[in-house]
Amino acid sequence: MNPVASHVALDALPLREDLRGKNAYGAPQLDVAVRLNTNENPYPPPPELVADVAEEARRVTAQLHRYPDRDALALRADLAAYLARSTGVALTADNVWAANGSNEILQQVLQAFGGPGRTALGFEPSYSMHPIIASGTQTGWLAARRRADFTLDPVEAAKTLADAAPDVVFLTSPNNPTGGAIEPEELAELVAAAPGMVVVDEAYAEFSDRPSAAVLLAEHGHKLIVSRTMSKAFAFAGGRLGYLAAAPAVVDALQLVRLPYHLSALTQAAARAALRHARATLASVALLRAERGRVVAALAAMGYQVVPSDANFVLFGRFAHAPTSWRAFLDRGVLIRDVGIEGHLRVTIGAPEENDVFLRAAKELA
Ligand SMILES: Cc1ncc(COP(=O)(O)O)c(C=O)c1O
Repeated sequence: MNPVASHVALDALPLREDLRGKNAYGAPQLDVAVRLNTNENPYPPPPELVADVAEEARRVTAQLHRYPDRDALALRADLAAYLARSTGVALTADNVWAANGSNEILQQVLQAFGGPGRTALGFEPSYSMHPIIASGTQTGWLAARRRADFTLDPVEAAKTLADAAPDVVFLTSPNNPTGGAIEPEELAELVAAAPGMVVVDEAYAEFSDRPSAAVLLAEHGHKLIVSRTMSKAFAFAGGRLGYLAAAPAVVDALQLVRLPYHLSALTQAAARAALRHARATLASVALLRAERGRVVAALAAMGYQVVPSDANFVLFGRFAHAPTSWRAFLDRGVLIRDVGIEGHLRVTIGAPEENDVFLRAAKELA
């Protein structure tokens, strides 16, 4: 039997003009022994968490004929408690919103505060989904630059924000794919300088010592959104749970664009179970930070330039031709990431034995 309508070409569809010729985002998902390309936590969830999620799934499954709690109130209360505990900022469920990964959070933010005729700005190189989500929501994208060492020049950046006056600015700290975090005083200055909404994307916050931008919410609640995810430190990438902290009015604004029942009952229950085991899961953060130190030192000793990182990955170089070197790592059974920065590749910090395989390959290619 022929697959249904497989002869219909994408080009022949009445696709939006601005989407024509674009490629879907996504790192290669290759079946390789050592996968260090998507900044996941290499440690699987602890057995007691697995048991708890399984038990919750059984309980919730018996009620799957009903829609889930549309407002995800219990989950938001748990997320607020975790964030309050880890940042020292008094937050409640009213300050928190959750979605299927922080990508969906960012999309909802641009649906509400961006859109046709509006602009969003990012300091590149940064997380490449920011401009893609801008494109998907028909928000104009303004690409500002970082310094050659990938840090932000706070004076220059504040001037850019004042001049360009974007409706939304993304400040990614720690920044993906370069790894550095914005210093707290500089972050405060940038948030103050931004005329529009400010999204501080803190997907990797747990790997950094810098305080969360949540400490700025009391003063800047009318424009600040702190975005977080359970995909990285929480070892919950497959569970798809992102969230934000903001003023209750911002959470109310997102209700205007969210799809009803966007977070399944299974997701909500699994995320709550995962949060109950936060202490056990987050124990891996200290191990990964120690491994980050080891990997950085080893790469530097081999003669590589390594960009200082506050995250669970490092950007390193310089390669004469990064795509060729990416392939050479793959040939040695190690999948890392070519993030399109000339002369550089990004490696996620894995478990010690994975890092050993990576470092052996790096030594051969140095
Ligand atoms: C900076 C940054 N923000 C957001 C995300 C999205 O993560 P998720 O949708 O899994 O929460 C990522 C994932 O790599 C990221 O690097």
